[in-house]
Amino acid sequence: MFVKVFSDSGGESEGILVGNLAHALMTETDEQDIYGFAAIERQKIIGCMFFSRLFFESDVCAFILSPVAVHTDRHGKGIGRKLIQYGIQILKSKRVELIMTYGDINFYSKVGFKPVSEDVVKAPFQLSRPEGWLGQSLISDPIPPLTGRPFCVKALNNPRYW
Ligand SMILES: CC(C)(COP(=O)(O)OP(=O)(O)OC[C@H]1O[C@@H](n2cnc3c(N)ncnc32)[C@H](O)[C@@H]1OP(=O)(O)O)[C@@H](O)C(=O)NCCC(=O)NCCS
Repeated sequence: MFVKVFSDSGGESEGILVGNLAHALMTETDEQDIYGFAAIERQKIIGCMFFSRLFFESDVCAFILSPVAVHTDRHGKGIGRKLIQYGIQILKSKRVELIMTYGDINFYSKVGFKPVSEDVVKAPFQLSRPEGWLGQSLISDPIPPLTGRPFCVKALNNPRYW
């Protein structure tokens, strides 16, 4: 699904890149470091996303949302918004304190994300689009500054994604 949706939106090479990321997240990540959610209609997955752990020096419980996809022919029907809102509720119930993502503020602002300066929360790698570094605290607003550069899970540990 990720290969198809991201090929449709960004071309075949992007589809393969994000498809490989989704596969690596599913196969190489320790169970306690990942949450996956799917929107299912008539026994078919029409939307899917992953949150994987970000490891900070402090013991803050943080996850990053990436990637997210909704079937191309189902865009614009509120599925992405509902899927992300549902995932956030589950993460809150699991006492996750902070969620980050890296993408388009025009979409992610609809589900509570705001731009985050790297003076507040550093990214695991140097960002090619710092304006796409977004976050939301699930326990307080604004996000309290965190020291140090976090580590991400192995699947995301590749500068090509950043
Ligand atoms: C981005 C994506 C997940 C959104 O899912 P969706 O189901 O189409 O989105 P929704 O219908 O829930 O839209 C929710 C809101 O976001 C807006 N929105 C949706 N996609 C947007 C985009 N690409 N840019 C800006 N705004 C967007 C909608 O207009 C809507 O706003 P409104 O309620 O004020 O009208 C989906 O379009 C997708 O899979 N795109 C290709 C892959 C991708 O870019 N993934 C995200 C980066 S990892």
